[in-house]
This record gives sequence, C-alpha cells and structure tokens, in this order.
Amino acid sequence: KRLVRALCLDDFEPMARAHLPRPIFGYVAGAAERNASLEDNHRAFCEWGFVPRILRDVSRRDPAATLFGRRWSAPFGIAPMGLAALVAYRGDIALAEAAKAANIPFVLSGSSLIRLEEVIAANPEAWFQAYLPGAAERIEKLIDRVAAAGFGTLLVTVDTAVLPSRENNVRNGFSTPLRPSLRLAWDGLIKPRWLIGTWFRTLARYGMPHFENSFAERGVPILARNVLRDFTARDHLNWEHLALIRRRWKGRLLVKGILHPEDARLAREHGADAVIVSNHGGRQLDGSVSPLRVLPAVVAASGDMPVLFDGGVRRGTDVLKAMALGARFVFVGRPMLYAAAVGGAEGVGHAIALLRGELDRDLALLGIDTPASLGRDSVFRLADGLL
Ligand code: FNR
Repeated sequence: KRLVRALCLDDFEPMARAHLPRPIFGYVAGAAERNASLEDNHRAFCEWGFVPRILRDVSRRDPAATLFGRRWSAPFGIAPMGLAALVAYRGDIALAEAAKAANIPFVLSGSSLIRLEEVIAANPEAWFQAYLPGAAERIEKLIDRVAAAGFGTLLVTVDTAVLPSRENNVRNGFSTPLRPSLRLAWDGLIKPRWLIGTWFRTLARYGMPHFENSFAERGVPILARNVLRDFTARDHLNWEHLALIRRRWKGRLLVKGILHPEDARLAREHGADAVIVSNHGGRQLDGSVSPLRVLPAVVAASGDMPVLFDGGVRRGTDVLKAMALGARFVFVGRPMLYAAAVGGAEGVGHAIALLRGELDRDLALLGIDTPASLGRDSVFRLADGLL
C-alpha cells in the first residue's frame, strides 16, 4: 500500500507531514532555538567515510547484536519519545509491538500518555525512560511502580534540567499543557485521517489523554496547568539523586543524555550499567555538539561500561559509523514515530526492516560479518584528507 513508497527512513518524514496536523508534526520534527544541534547531528555523520575491505567471504554475515547478554536482531532500538499516542493511535503500543515482532529494544517515554502497565503487557521486554519528579519520595514511588510493572531496564534522562526553548512549537501552535484553540481545531479538521483515526479513536477508548507515567500517583491531563510545574521542578536534581535511584532500583540502570566524558565516568561511579551519549535529538541545549563528535572520548572514559548512542541515525551506514567509533548499540527517534503515524505497528515494522536491510548490505560491502567486528580502521575522517 502506501508504505511501499517508503524506501528509506527519511521517506517517512514527508509522509508524516502530510498526515499530521501541523502542531503535532512540528513537535516531532522540531528541535530547540536555531536547530544548530539538530543539523550538527546530521553533519557529523557526513564527516566520516568508510574504508571497506574486499574479497572476504561475507556469506555468513548477520546484523544481530548482543547487549547485556541479550541477543537482538540488529544493533539498534527505538528511542523514548513522549506524546507518541498523539502522533499515532496508541502510538506507544504500536512502537512496542513492532519492536517486539522485530526483536529490537523499545524504550517507553516517561512523557507518554498510555499507562506503562498497558505497554509492558504488549511488550514484556520494554525498557522505561523516567523523567524524575522533583521530590525524592515521588522518585521512589515512581521507581517502585516501574519495578512492580515488570520493567527490567530503567533509563534516567539527565539532559532536561529545565524545559528548552522550542520556539518552533510556539510558532506551530503546540504547547504543554496543550491549550485548545481555534487554530488547533482547524489544524485537526484539515487532517481528517488523523482526526478520526487517532484523536477520536483515542478519546473513545481512553477519554482525554493524560501524562500517565511521569508520576507515581495518577495521570495529569495534557490540558492541565500543573504539567508545567511538574516539569520545571527538577532543576535541583544532582548525582545524589542518581545514587538514590541506584539504591532503590534493582534492575539495569542507564543514564541518557551524556556528552562530557567526565560525566560518563561519574555515571559509572554512581552505579550506572551504561550511558547513552545523546543531545536529545537537538531538542535541549541548542549548540550542544553532536554526540558522534564526543563518542570516542566518552568510550575512552567509560572503561568496560557499554556506551550507547542516539541522534540523527537514519541509515545503516550511520549505525555502523557510530559503532566503529565505539558505540555498542544505537537508538533511532523521529523516523520511528513518523512510521507509526503513517502506518501504525506495520509502518514501524517496515521502518525497522528497511534499516536492518541496509545494515545487512552495508556489512557485505564493508567486508565484515557482524557490526561488532567494526574497528576504528573501518572509518576515516574526511577532514584528514589522505589515509
Ligand atoms: C524525544 N526524545 C525524548 N527523550 C527522552 O529521554 N524522553 C522523552 O520523553 C523524549 N521525547 C521525545 C519526543 C520526540 C517527539 C522526539 C523526536 C524525541 C529524544 C529521543 O529519545 C532521542 O534522544 C532523539 O530523538 C534521537 O534523535 P533522532 O533519532 O530523533 O535524530
């Protein structure tokens, strides 16, 4: 059907733009301020090239990858993205189910609108990403709820001390809390497939969407003013809070949103099992460098702690460049949500298959069998000019 027109991950973006109301598309596509970090995430990949090897038997190649002793069908997963259920009907479930079917990891966002207990029922191996509430006892309650639901892996996102300046959201008429307006109503009306297929279906099943997973107690409606208060009351969070989480959380603990090598070392010291090098897809501090540029230094500072990566991964070659520079695993954000908008779980499955297919071909053309066997000598920084 329509999905076959998507030949690569980038193709989902214009399809989602046509399908989604402008404020919602803008929320997903956008970044912060001048989009400097968003652009750098893309540019950083372009600054590396491959030095392939030839005439090696690659008939037994396999893009599968192992992380924490678990074998996945590819070295990439789906990054946590908030408000997915506004973008696609039961968006988090669509992502969770597609990831499960394809045997790749899925991370549920703490800013999601479907209860985490419902999501883990759809994918018992889902990971959970937490935005920490400000008060310690609420952090503990949240952790206990996530553990009770059966999640084994917790990501704590640490690059959001305050809300960023996402001017594009304001310009596109999108805000948290969501404010009903004539403009919003109009933007919805002119996208009837989304209006009926996502918005009305959601209202019929769940009523007005709530932030269901930021807080232990109960959901907060997306229209409520106290959403903002809860999101801004975290600016005092520090390493002590991570230590507190480490004492409370028995599962695997990942720290997401690290760029400085010293912070990777501190995360390890405080008991993190891995870090995710990320600038939040360019959505937090605009001008923060692409994670690819700091990846080798972070890996060097991390010892035997796995370093994961996200930001701008769109191609099999991007996955392999990040891995050649030391990433153990990568995560893909926006394209997966666009795919969910356009085709639900089937769309996400198509996106995953496209990326995995690229990886398989890239491995063969690079002359290697597995992504893990990539070395630093497989890539070359173009600015260096000559080998
Ligand atoms: C995000 N991201 C994010 N990260 C997080 O830790 N918690 C969250 O709730 C969200 N929400 C969110 C919503 C949307 C719409 C996007 C696009 C992103 C950041 C995300 O996990 C990841 O770091 C980036 O999206 C990776 O960059 P790419 O792949 O989108 O370029």
